[in-house]
Amino acid sequence: MTSRSAAAPDTRPLGTAEAPVPTRRGAEFEGTATVRSRQTVADGVVSLELAPSTGDGEAEPLPLWQPGAHIDVVLPTGVTRQYSLCGPIDAAGHSTRWRIAVLREPHGRGGSQWIHDHVQEGDELRVRGPRNNFPLRPAARYLFVGGGIGITPLLPMIAEAEAAGAEWSLLYGGRTHGSMAFLPELAGYGERVSVRPQDQYGLLDLAGFLGDPDPSALVYCCGPAPLIDAVEAYCATWPSGSLNVERFAAAASAGPADGAAAEQPIEVELRASGMTLTVPPELSVLKAVEEAGVPVLSSCEEGICGSCETPVLDGEVDHRDSLLTEDERAANDTMLICVSRARGGRLVLDL
Ligand code: FES
Repeated sequence: MTSRSAAAPDTRPLGTAEAPVPTRRGAEFEGTATVRSRQTVADGVVSLELAPSTGDGEAEPLPLWQPGAHIDVVLPTGVTRQYSLCGPIDAAGHSTRWRIAVLREPHGRGGSQWIHDHVQEGDELRVRGPRNNFPLRPAARYLFVGGGIGITPLLPMIAEAEAAGAEWSLLYGGRTHGSMAFLPELAGYGERVSVRPQDQYGLLDLAGFLGDPDPSALVYCCGPAPLIDAVEAYCATWPSGSLNVERFAAAASAGPADGAAAEQPIEVELRASGMTLTVPPELSVLKAVEEAGVPVLSSCEEGICGSCETPVLDGEVDHRDSLLTEDERAANDTMLICVSRARGGRLVLDL
């Protein structure tokens, strides 16, 4: 999954504004966690609460996370999937309780089905993270728009906004009432939450919910691509940085910025490793780097999770990810090497 927000209005600090926001490449935990509980929370959705694995010794607590963070679950099949953390947070906007919710996707690539069919209480899962591409930034007012399982990263954000006394409201859509997870938890917030299953209400009324551009507000949206595309279109006239989205899959617009670049091999200098690679068109920079024996973190390999983000020392990047903001792309000092390439045929990376 992926998201990135541009510079945002800082109109009123949240209670946690001084707490460090985890970066995508901050120190990452990698190890096993035990499934403490498994619950069905909607049609086709199970939630898993993860606890530290004790193994042979004392269990270390799982790392702290903040709203918007996700983890990688590395399945025994070799598949890695990202899931938002949606457990409860404390008054300071932190949590060590790792809970994820997994939607069974019959037409997916098998990760969610494997979890649904095989993972039970007491099992151990290989996990990595947390990583936060979707941090909640300070604002006086929040407008949350969730579609289906996209409610997961929004749950702890709502709790944090509520704890901070911010003004907020949630528009939550899904196919049917029964397919929408965490409705009992959300019911406690009363009229701030609008639950709008499509079979009763049709498409979400974005105009009615979002209204006119509001410089004091931030919009956070997570859900299926058509919903995010619609919210992006609606917010096109809002102040830059107002909208923050998280995608589950690469954006339709992701891809070569210029067709010719896709056909060319590129030269990539790994400055710290003292080697230069020629990367053919059919190979990603990530794969070339790995084949050269240089260790680099990666997960989704689709330009959506942020784990392979790499500093760029020289050369012009052909950004093909679904994560970086326009400002970050323009800065040309970082790239997601699983999908992005070079415009000028050569890059120098801090690897
Ligand atoms: S963005 Fe996920 S591996 Fe590159």
